[in-house]
Amino acid sequence: RGGAAGDLDLAGRHVVVSAGGTREYLDPVRFLGNRSSGLQGYALARAAVARGAEVTLVSANVALPDPAGAKVVRVETTGQLRDAVVGAAAGADAVVMAAAPADFRPTDVSTSKIKKAGDGSAPSIGLQQNPDILHEISTERARPGTVVVGFAAETGDDTGSVLDLAREKLARKGCDLLVVNDVSGGAVFGSPDNQAVLLGADGSATEVPRGSKTALAHVIWDAVVRRLPAG
Ligand code: CTP
Ligand code: CA
Repeated sequence: RGGAAGDLDLAGRHVVVSAGGTREYLDPVRFLGNRSSGLQGYALARAAVARGAEVTLVSANVALPDPAGAKVVRVETTGQLRDAVVGAAAGADAVVMAAAPADFRPTDVSTSKIKKAGDGSAPSIGLQQNPDILHEISTERARPGTVVVGFAAETGDDTGSVLDLAREKLARKGCDLLVVNDVSGGAVFGSPDNQAVLLGADGSATEVPRGSKTALAHVIWDAVVRRLPAG
């Protein structure tokens, strides 16, 4: 961490953090979801409180205790996450999208529980794309100085390396910083540790050695603080 321990370098700042994974319902009891635990987002929220920020934590389906001193807004779907984050972002100095929003939702949601057909056939699920929250808050900033941070978990593929794909994603999303996890070696999901590269829209790349999600959270806030307009 850049500042001295105990620095209140986010005092007087309002930050928004999203955490967890959204669910998209097929019927009243079933959903499409993902494995995000919310640990990194919660670590970011706790770290920001410790540095003096007013923190709004938009939490999607997370089984973790509320961070002391943060305002927690609970959501389930990507649509609800979008509304909560866009609403809170209007008055924010920084927004960090650590949540894993479901990219798609079922085209039709059944109001009653879907039943099996007697003939052994299976239903098809039609999907439509969800709104891209990070793109929206990056390109339609209510306050020009708001610092916007995204996350990307990449494996690399035939079209590019992890960092190539991440650079493209940073440009496409329009955010200021992208926290990149290389997940080709296995799962970071639910792990207390994380390893990342912090890419800046200014072309910077900072390797963050393997360490706790709390340590990574402080590195991310260090980078945010450096980009905040004086206020
Ligand atoms: N994100 C978002 N809204 C979405 C999907 C993703 O705000 N509908 C945010 C995530 O919170 C994350 C960043 O965008 O901070 C990158 O997420 P990722 O899933 O890697 O991006 P996608 O654009 O969905 O790309 P991909 O096709 O690789 O999943
Ligand atoms: Ca995605």
